[in-house]
Amino acid sequence: MSVIENSKVTVVGAGSVGSSVAYAALIRGSARHVALYDINTAKVDAEILDLAHGTLFTGSSDISGGSDISVAEGSHVVVITAGAKQNPGQSRIELAGVNAGILRKMLPQLLEVAPDAVYVIVTNPCDVLTVFAQEETGLPPERLFASGTVLDTSRLRWKLAQRAGVATSSVHAYIIGEHGDTEFALWSHASIGTVPLLEWESEGHPRMTVDELDGITVDVRDSAYKVIQGKGATNYAIGLSSARIIEAILRDENAVLPVSTVLRDFHGINGVALSVPSIVNSRGAFPIRQTPFSPNELALLRRSADALREVAVSLR
Ligand code: 2OP
Repeated sequence: MSVIENSKVTVVGAGSVGSSVAYAALIRGSARHVALYDINTAKVDAEILDLAHGTLFTGSSDISGGSDISVAEGSHVVVITAGAKQNPGQSRIELAGVNAGILRKMLPQLLEVAPDAVYVIVTNPCDVLTVFAQEETGLPPERLFASGTVLDTSRLRWKLAQRAGVATSSVHAYIIGEHGDTEFALWSHASIGTVPLLEWESEGHPRMTVDELDGITVDVRDSAYKVIQGKGATNYAIGLSSARIIEAILRDENAVLPVSTVLRDFHGINGVALSVPSIVNSRGAFPIRQTPFSPNELALLRRSADALREVAVSLR
């Protein structure tokens, strides 16, 4: 397959995350048609109207949708954001039971109207729900995956860019593993431009230390808690991250993004969904097996896998 003409994405859930995904997709022109679906008619209709009122300024993308599942018909990508959200102090994992129930009900209906779509799970805990949804639907792992640590990676690159005094796009580093409390940075291959991270220095920006990098990882890991504490939810950055994933699929980009797929013999890990650098194109997401890990990083990846396996088992 190649770049999809007349591309359509449906965003499921018109809460703050779903509406922000639709907004970001419209502004970036990620898809020709953006549809928003929610069972709450008043809410979804109001969000669509508000978004539509701005389309004079958004190029050629249009917005439609409503509370009838048929709005998702013909979608090339379906992004699922529906579900309970984290309250201040609550972990993503605590949402597993209730959000799995929502997905169990919704997925068969979506598959009926959008049988060929690539499915992207944003609802938390996105890794656990990806395993659950993949088992429920029987879709091949590449066609149903989670936004994972694309957002956390963006948070990391922003922080490093501030510290190093360079553009965010010139930082090459990944957060991988769980989108949550056991995530970690792949420091062994992080760089600023071509300079290994710990060797980077420029005027006003002294070298970073290992301790400092540890602190940055913790900051990134806890970023969502901080935003949720202050404003009740995170929405803009996940909206943009999701739009980026939508583009990689619809434009058949073969972009390397740390999305979360159910892993099959990935450095010995099986049956859990974790984010690792993956190729994303119109067929879905494909973990990059050659990704090099230091022994410590591999141990951290296995720790993420063990933590998530326990939660996944509790949903069966
Ligand atoms: C985030 O990381 C809460 O998963 C959401 O912003």
